[in-house]
Amino acid sequence: MAFMGLSLSSPSQLLLGMVVLWLLSSPAFSADPDPLQDFCVADLNAPISVNGFPCKPITNVTSDDFFFDGLIKESNTTNIFGVNVTAGDVRSFPGLNTLGISMNRVDFAQGGVNPPHSHPRATEIGVVIKGKILVGFVTTGNVFFSKVVTTGQVFAIPRGLVHFQLNVGKGKALTITALNSQLPGATALPLALFASNPSIPVEVLTKGFQIDDDVVKSIRSKFGV
Ligand code: GLV
Ligand code: MN
Repeated sequence: MAFMGLSLSSPSQLLLGMVVLWLLSSPAFSADPDPLQDFCVADLNAPISVNGFPCKPITNVTSDDFFFDGLIKESNTTNIFGVNVTAGDVRSFPGLNTLGISMNRVDFAQGGVNPPHSHPRATEIGVVIKGKILVGFVTTGNVFFSKVVTTGQVFAIPRGLVHFQLNVGKGKALTITALNSQLPGATALPLALFASNPSIPVEVLTKGFQIDDDVVKSIRSKFGV
């Protein structure tokens, strides 16, 4: 018997072929689930909770549901990182519900850093609109990839990997990023580890990072903890 161009002669080879087919077609290999209709504009206030958001009635859908002007304005980067991420995800742009896509605006002050973070549900692609940015990510095998990118250049961050962007140019910088999830999620490592609520036990951090208690206290104090 032939399967995907291979000739499968024994029942165990056939079973293997079926498992491969199941894995390849499994949603675990895609980002957000595929839509089952043209669109499903999110009803963010719906009383029921589902994976994503329920659709608002189609008769209430308007052209404006598919437009978003929330990324036009430069945002305030006066914070300890010198960065501000404005998210254009389903929460601010309900028309994205079920479409598996979203977009961010990232403003950098001079020297600002979008600190190490990861998106559990999305791969990221970004374009530098202004400035010079060092972009880096680390694989699950701890291999570090990085490059300095400038205006018009594009970078990609594989799904789930820890990454950062550092403004290495003179003056402000701006990137626009796109992510293949309506709600990619972002875990900022410094905040997740040192400013969670409730706090991670100090012993986990001192042993995990091989540092003293006062270092943990000092880092936490920077985040107002
Ligand atoms: C940049 O890393 C972003 O998450 O938008
Ligand atoms: Mn990111």
